[in-house]
This record gives sequence, C-alpha cells and structure tokens, in this order.
Amino acid sequence: MELTGKRILLIISGGIAAYKSLDLIRRLRERGASVRPIMTAAAQEFVTPLAVGALSASHVYTDLFSREDEQDVGHIRLARECDLVLIAPASADLLAKMAHGLANDLASAVLLATDRPVLVAPAMNPKMWSAAATKRNAEILRGDGVGFIGPMSGEMAESGEAGLGRMAEPLDIAAEVVHLLGGSERPLAGRTAIVTSGPTHEPIDPVRYIANRSSGRQGHAIAAALAKLGAEVTLISGPVTIADPAGVQTIHVERADEMHDAVVSRLPADIAIMVAAVADWRVVTSADQKIKKQPGEAPPPLMLAENPDILKTVGHHAQRPKIVVGFAAETQDIERNGQAKLVRKGADLIVANDVSPETGVMGGTRNRVKIIAHDSISDWPDLSKDEVAERLAALVAEKLEGEHR
Ligand code: C5P
Repeated sequence: MELTGKRILLIISGGIAAYKSLDLIRRLRERGASVRPIMTAAAQEFVTPLAVGALSASHVYTDLFSREDEQDVGHIRLARECDLVLIAPASADLLAKMAHGLANDLASAVLLATDRPVLVAPAMNPKMWSAAATKRNAEILRGDGVGFIGPMSGEMAESGEAGLGRMAEPLDIAAEVVHLLGGSERPLAGRTAIVTSGPTHEPIDPVRYIANRSSGRQGHAIAAALAKLGAEVTLISGPVTIADPAGVQTIHVERADEMHDAVVSRLPADIAIMVAAVADWRVVTSADQKIKKQPGEAPPPLMLAENPDILKTVGHHAQRPKIVVGFAAETQDIERNGQAKLVRKGADLIVANDVSPETGVMGGTRNRVKIIAHDSISDWPDLSKDEVAERLAALVAEKLEGEHR
C-alpha cells in the first residue's frame, strides 16, 4: 500500500467540512497510513471525538493542558512523531494563528512546534477566503513552505453561496498525501540492495598501486537512484574522488579482496548491482616497504594473481539476491561478450557498454549501454550516467514487482 508505515497527524479545525474528515481518515487508513487526530474546540461542535476516534482507531487529542494527554505524549512529541501534519479542514482562524505563530491551543501549539511537512486543506465561506487578511496569511504560510490543497469552488454546504471555499475532496487530499510522501514512487521500499562502484587499488608497495580509470560516477548514481525508489542501499566503493551519495550507507575499500569480503558480509539482499571496475589481478609480491630503485639492477618483477570475481561469487551464492546485475566494459563484440558473461557470472542482467577510448565513457559523465537479459537485448540511447541509473533502478523495481519479499 502506498502509505504503509506512514504516520499522519490530522488536525481537524472548525467548519461544516469537518464531516468530510471522517471519510478522509478512512481513505488514509485504506492506503496503509496510521492517523492520529487532533481536534480544535470548534471542530468538536461539528463532529464528535467519539466518531473521529472510532474511525482512526486512535486516541483523539483535544487539550493543550490535558493532564492525561500531556503525560501520555505531550504536544512536542505529537508534533514530531509523524511523517506529515495534515490540516483538514483548515479554518480561517487556524490559518491566521499559524501565520502569526500563536500557540494558545493544542492544534496551534503543535503547528508551531513541528518540524514536519505541513499540508493544509482550507475550507471556509468564500468571502472569508477572499478577505485581505486570509490572503495575506495564506501568502505567509506558502512562504514558510506550507503546502495547500484547495479550496475548491462550488456551493457552500451551509449558505448555498458559490465561490472558492469548499474543502478539497478526501480522495484528492489522500492522493496529495501519497504524492508528498512519495508512496507511489517508492516501489523499492523494504528492499535491500548492494552496489559496488569505482576502481580497486592493488598495492605494489605502500606507495604504488595498479588501478584503472573508473570514476565511480555510474555506480554511485545507481546507488542513489535505488535509494530514491525506497531501497535500503549499501554502496561498497573503491577509491574515488566523488562524494558519498545521500541516503546510502557507503563502505570504503581499497582492494578487490576487501570489496569481495564487504559484499559477501552484506548478504542476504534483494538486489546486487556490481558496477565496480574490479582489478582482475593483484600483485602477489606486494612489498611492505617502498621498493627502491637499485642502480645497475634490473627492474623488480611483478608477480600477479587473479582476484576473486565478486559478481560471479554473488551470482552463484547460496544467498543469491533475487536480482543480480553486472556490468560489462567491452571494446569489441559487445553483445556476444555480454551474453557469455551473463551465463558465466550467474547474472540476470548485464549492462554492456563500449569503453573504447573514443567513447569517453570511462571517467566521463555520459553512457550508452545495451541491456542484455537471458531472453532479450535492448539498446538504450546516449544518456547521462544519472539517467542510466534511474532507468536501471526502475527496471529492477519492475522485475521485482510481484516477487515475494
Ligand atoms: O569479467 P569482467 O571484469 O568483464 O566483468 C565485469 C563485471 O563483473 C562487472 O559487473 C564487475 O563489477 C564484475 N566483477 C567483479 N569482480 C571481479 C571482476 C569483475 O565483481 N573480480
């Protein structure tokens, strides 16, 4: 459900539209949200706390100085323990208090204390909505970052007057809440993902290493894109000069064997996307001290050994993630090599790209890739690495849809 786990603090203020908040509570709960209601004194003249409490399956908060309520949660906790504060209906009086920072009842005190997003659904007589004072207050609130839905035009319930002032419909308010909390755009909520990115450095001695030109841009962008869709992402990054992406747990490693161990330690996971340009070989003869140039002597030989193949390990692991994606940096025969790699590595998808020097992909900001699956190959146009990341994250979400969690 779009609002699963989301906590809405619903403030009901005075007005005939308060009866619609009963339906609104149902709509929000149907979508998985929990609803904690606060009612102003005026609201209780229109609907009863009993009805609101029954529909929300929650205690209804009404008093700033209620001994029981204050001991129970208190207005500061009420203000913070939610993902969104929704005021529906929002009266002219409550908008005025909010705009000026008054805090003489529970609803206004909570609004002054909250650091959460606030959405208001005004409802009032059209003359009150178009009054200069209300216009000023709404302007102030918009400037403070408060979101508005409505009022709508139509006939007023009580006076039959027409004009702007009707509260938005509960279904539309619920849709706006979903939009604000990103429910519908978080198809990977509850999923875990491991992403590798960047090059690895294989030491020759304490100051020298073997590396490649990978910047980490593509892998970091993929980690960020998965997180944006709601996944809990661990990014295992080799040495790069770009920043850790926001909303992602980043583990920094140097060598391929460290990257391998870090990846395996994060299993099980739902998704693995191995983007790192892992060095194929490490130096077996890596020295503890800086190797000295000896006059008259031949250069030291470098003995290489194969590094663990991280993608292959994950693709064949007993705790194999549901979706395993690898990258194939090729300079020739991209499709055939990509398909062979898909099988060899036990992956579901290979993102194959041409990294010939003339493409500028390695270290650059753009990418042109082919998506190789077991039963299809699709060509994506020339895109920025961020766009490739967003498309890939969406593709992974699509493939996971309907899979058991
Ligand atoms: O075999 P090749 O290096 O071309 O395969 C590329 C893919 O395999 C990439 O997804 C890369 O991250 C992954 N890989 C790996 N560990 C290695 C070598 C490659 O995870 N040692």
